[in-house]
Amino acid sequence: MPSIAILGCMWGDEAKAKIVDYLGSDADVVVRFQGGSNAGHTIVVDGKKYVFHTVPSGMLYEDTKCIIGAGVVIDPTRLVEEIRSLEAAGVDFGDRLYIDERAGVVLPLHQYLDKRNEEILNKGKIGTTGRGIGPTYADLTARLGIRLGDLAHKRYLKQRLKDLYLYHGVEITTADLNEQCDLLKENWEVLKKHCSNTLPILHEAKAQDLKIIFEGAQGSLLDRTWGSFPYVTSSNTMVDAIGTGSGFSARNVDEVIGIFKSYATRVGEGPFPTEIHGALADQIRKQGNEFGSTTGRPRRIGYFDAVMAAYTAKLNTLDGIALTLLDVLSGVEDIKICVGYEYKGKLLNTPPSHVLDLEKVKPAYLSFEGWEEDITGVRHKDDLPKNARLYLEAVEDLTEVPVRIVSVGKERHETFMC
Ligand code: IMO
Ligand code: MG
Repeated sequence: MPSIAILGCMWGDEAKAKIVDYLGSDADVVVRFQGGSNAGHTIVVDGKKYVFHTVPSGMLYEDTKCIIGAGVVIDPTRLVEEIRSLEAAGVDFGDRLYIDERAGVVLPLHQYLDKRNEEILNKGKIGTTGRGIGPTYADLTARLGIRLGDLAHKRYLKQRLKDLYLYHGVEITTADLNEQCDLLKENWEVLKKHCSNTLPILHEAKAQDLKIIFEGAQGSLLDRTWGSFPYVTSSNTMVDAIGTGSGFSARNVDEVIGIFKSYATRVGEGPFPTEIHGALADQIRKQGNEFGSTTGRPRRIGYFDAVMAAYTAKLNTLDGIALTLLDVLSGVEDIKICVGYEYKGKLLNTPPSHVLDLEKVKPAYLSFEGWEEDITGVRHKDDLPKNARLYLEAVEDLTEVPVRIVSVGKERHETFMC
């Protein structure tokens, strides 16, 4: 059985959960390895919508173990709420959820810092999800952050909390500190049964040749090093993050599937070379329901960007592409794909690394004739309208990666293999 990485390869929201769900019906283990509740992963089954933020999307399959790896940052209050609301929606957790004791803890302090930074830094505004993700990762890097396993040690935890406030120069009263410790304790009572060293589970799964799926969060263009810095998230989001975030070396991943939308979207600030405005953007936003599942923000819309796609395909050594939301393009007369960036009299085929350069590039487009048909019922590539097939083949040619999976609707079954 293969181990498969399923990674967002644009600016997030590529429908990662849908593909995890599609390939995961026989998965033994599904693993999240980075990010936190900034993610919003949606699965629709028979009209019922399930939204995952920190819990892996494999939870819908009752025989699948789900691991929240060491590289994830966890907001204990939000995670407890998420577990409760999924349980209320009929998801049976049993003893299938495992959380690594090394995972970072997002505190109210981090959410405060996240929001404060966005408010005071006019120029540096990122448009974060406000979930405290950046400050939490920063504190872990500074070796001052709290990890989930710390919650088992009351006195140690209190001291570290105190130090953290001191480090950030944020005042806290003893009463507030005690209140925070009490809340963490309350959440710990719920989470502790899930918390362990998850490494042996993964290594055992590998030894037994079980099917393991690694569920990426965010996308390669939000990677904190290789994305459009500084308009990025604070974790590494690419295939290599699997090793550091779960302890299962990326060398051992058999197959890497990169997910791209059939067009492009972005939430938050930052350069977006193929962004479009006006009637077509509104049509796509409406058809594709392009509103954030974590923050509800309307997503920015653009044409498929093959410069970026080829870049992230290489970064992740993709074996195949999952092309999602193809149905949303039905009815678009003229569909464009960006095939190069015009910049300073040159045509670039890879994105410049500096944001000030990236902000100034002008996309060079190829135009494709659209199709009118509703394609949500299509289950085979040959049954797609000719122009949709040509579009799909252009994506393959421009990225040099075969399209292996196509999704044509929200529902679980509205997906097919090529
Ligand atoms: P999923 O997993 C889309 C974006 C934010 C912001 C930047 C930094 O659902 O694809 P952060 O809160 O992470 O510090 O915000 O990253 N962002 C996402 N955009 N999908 C996501 O997750 C995202 N998670 C973060 O909008 O621009
Ligand atoms: Mg999202």
